[in-house]
Amino acid sequence: MIPAVAKATDAPYGKTCPGGFNDRTPETPDNQAHSISTGMTDTKRVLLIISGGIAAYKSLTLIRRLKERGIAVRCVLSVAATKFVTPLTVGALSGDKVYTDLFSLTDEQAMGHIRLSREADLVVVAPASADLLAKAANGLADDLASTILLATDKPVLVAPSMNVEMWEHPATQRNLATLAADGVRQVGPERGDLACGELGAGRVAEPDHILSSIEALLEDTSTSLRSVRTLVTSGPTQEPIDPVRYLGNYSSGKQGHAIAQALVSLGAEVTLVTGPTKEPDPPNARVIHIQTAEEMLAACLKTLPVDVAVCAAAVSDWRASVQANQKMKRSGNIQHIELVENPDILGRLSAAQLNRPTLVVGFAAETESVVENAKKKRLAKGCDWIIANDVSHETGVFGGTHNRVHVIDEAGVENWPSASKVTIAGRLAARIASEIAHKSIDA
Ligand SMILES: Cc1cc2nc3c(=O)[nH]c(=O)nc-3n(C[C@H](O)[C@H](O)[C@H](O)COP(=O)(O)O)c2cc1C
Repeated sequence: MIPAVAKATDAPYGKTCPGGFNDRTPETPDNQAHSISTGMTDTKRVLLIISGGIAAYKSLTLIRRLKERGIAVRCVLSVAATKFVTPLTVGALSGDKVYTDLFSLTDEQAMGHIRLSREADLVVVAPASADLLAKAANGLADDLASTILLATDKPVLVAPSMNVEMWEHPATQRNLATLAADGVRQVGPERGDLACGELGAGRVAEPDHILSSIEALLEDTSTSLRSVRTLVTSGPTQEPIDPVRYLGNYSSGKQGHAIAQALVSLGAEVTLVTGPTKEPDPPNARVIHIQTAEEMLAACLKTLPVDVAVCAAAVSDWRASVQANQKMKRSGNIQHIELVENPDILGRLSAAQLNRPTLVVGFAAETESVVENAKKKRLAKGCDWIIANDVSHETGVFGGTHNRVHVIDEAGVENWPSASKVTIAGRLAARIASEIAHKSIDA
């Protein structure tokens, strides 16, 4: 582990400034005069490796975000990365020396590559080029970035970024599977317009998304979810009426998918059961695609036993009692469509006699009396927590990127501020990890 207190003499590189990489003591009025002192050691440290990709510029935003959150960041640039962003800019933003050279006489007098790999709480590669991922997966160490990845004893998070063909190439996918098996965590990539002009997966995760994964990983080790089996439901369900029509809702799956991703980032084994959405499958999760509520229930029951279930899907409450075999005609004599209730997936998981998950978390999408209705829902369903959100049209929650939730458990209500769905997912994953840690201590 990192030594609890870093002395000035322990800092062979760059500056040792209050709140900097080698100062683990938060600056307070009491310690300003003696910033390298004994005391609380809250400052978390990230070693950010920037590799050679067009998305390297986004790492500049990531550095700023990390600093805003009080996280110290030290940067390593691959030689290729220096073609995209300059060490001068990166150094100015990080407030620390920037490292690019494995064979640096000054740095290597103190075995700099080993020290760099050990003096952080977390190593992040963003953007992670196809090339660096390939090197890391195969244990190559022919430059500073790849040597650090081989020498580190700290958790590693990679944010891949590349052209869609490079991303989909079996070699890249093979390398990522190897890295995942080695315990390397991954965030993104996302789908969208790529710098090369093509469309598809390969775009680096947004800085806020990477930040959320970093924050989740920097939580105490007691909040890790390594090997914890989790089930997440996401998206809407579609209940067919005839071969071309269905009953559905506006759920985008953004919140559920972000939760699955955040749980993966904490090391959980995640099965995501999702209705039809435009969201890409989260990497390193097992994803089951379904259409109807009945299919979702069957997939969930088949996934049991799990330790944690998070039911974020907007399951249609009803389905048509009869589905027409042929497209219904406008001229047909339709009097009404009879609806029957769909199965209650959250209720079924919460009440499971056999294999009830240790923690069952439901979502309540409400349009009025949000907290009151959600409290009633928690009791009626028998789940442990309910995450209540207001999905009235004017909130823009359904389909939007942000959410404002109230977390309701036996102890009461926590009102979380409005934040991106990714941030909320990270916070929720950390809360789940902490709960699971307590439950295993109690058991
Ligand atoms: C303009 C340009 C853009 C590039 N963008 C990417 C990219 O987004 N992702 C990637 O994996 N490689 C990209 N490459 C290729 C890498 O820079 C190349 O594989 C390099 O060797 C990576 O070195 P590194 O892994 O040591 O950083 C790009 C190359 C050029 C010339």
